Amino acid sequence: MKIPSGLITALQNANKTLVLTGAGMSAESGVPTFRDAQSGLWSKFRPEELATPEAFRKHPKLVWDWYDDRRNNIGRINPHAGHDALVELEQYFESLLLVTQNVDGLHQQAGSRDVIELHGNIMLSVCSETGKVIENSWIESNPGRPPVSPHHPRGLARPGVVWFGESLPADAMNRAMTAASHCDVCFSIGTSTLVQPAASLPLMALNSGACVIEINPASTPLSELATFSLQATAAEALTAINTKLASCK
Ligand code: APR
Repeated sequence: MKIPSGLITALQNANKTLVLTGAGMSAESGVPTFRDAQSGLWSKFRPEELATPEAFRKHPKLVWDWYDDRRNNIGRINPHAGHDALVELEQYFESLLLVTQNVDGLHQQAGSRDVIELHGNIMLSVCSETGKVIENSWIESNPGRPPVSPHHPRGLARPGVVWFGESLPADAMNRAMTAASHCDVCFSIGTSTLVQPAASLPLMALNSGACVIEINPASTPLSELATFSLQATAAEALTAINTKLASCK
């Protein structure tokens, strides 16, 4: 695909880069989006019945089993060429902070070094009462579904993700917002930029004078505002950008 020369110049002049990714990034690897994950057996449930603290309090086994099913699927999935391209891009900048709304850990699996997981990580289990991480060895050796927590007498193990109605981790969001207002280039990849507060990050970057590059096969509210809007998949656009950058070295 053709990459505008102005986009390459902006990358060549950038020191600090911020990358925001969303469900479309993972979808290209075959991770079902949140709503697609409610297929088959799970299609009769609404998100509020499976992904809220109230749902977990009322039906802990049901919620645990849904996440177990998703974890099993994600465990078989690998990063794609777009994830690899983001790792390669790191060499061109003083810093590249990757902020993801995805919970599958695919960026870390690909080798990205500085990743903020705004919505947590589905492979992690935490105590429902204290939020402390629970080791996998504990989960495997405790028969309950969900297993009881080793950290609190009334606690249960729950997925280490942010549910509807819960706040995003404040430290992570603060770091992402600081990066957004100080970056030279901001990528928004595979996200509909509809879900706040993550959606505000590219806008903060834009308002601070950064070059904003959107990669999404569909139009979003950001498309008209972005400096460059590439209507392509993440793998297609990111590999093309890398090839062009490498040829200009
Ligand atoms: N490459 C790039 N973008 C893609 C691709 C692809 N291969 N495939 C789909 N997309 C785009 C879609 O066009 C859409 O705009 O990815 C976007 C996905 O949008 P959402 O499903 O709204 O996901 P996201 O923006 O990450 O939503 C944020 O909301 O549902 C919750 O927790 C969930 O993390 C998610 C959050």
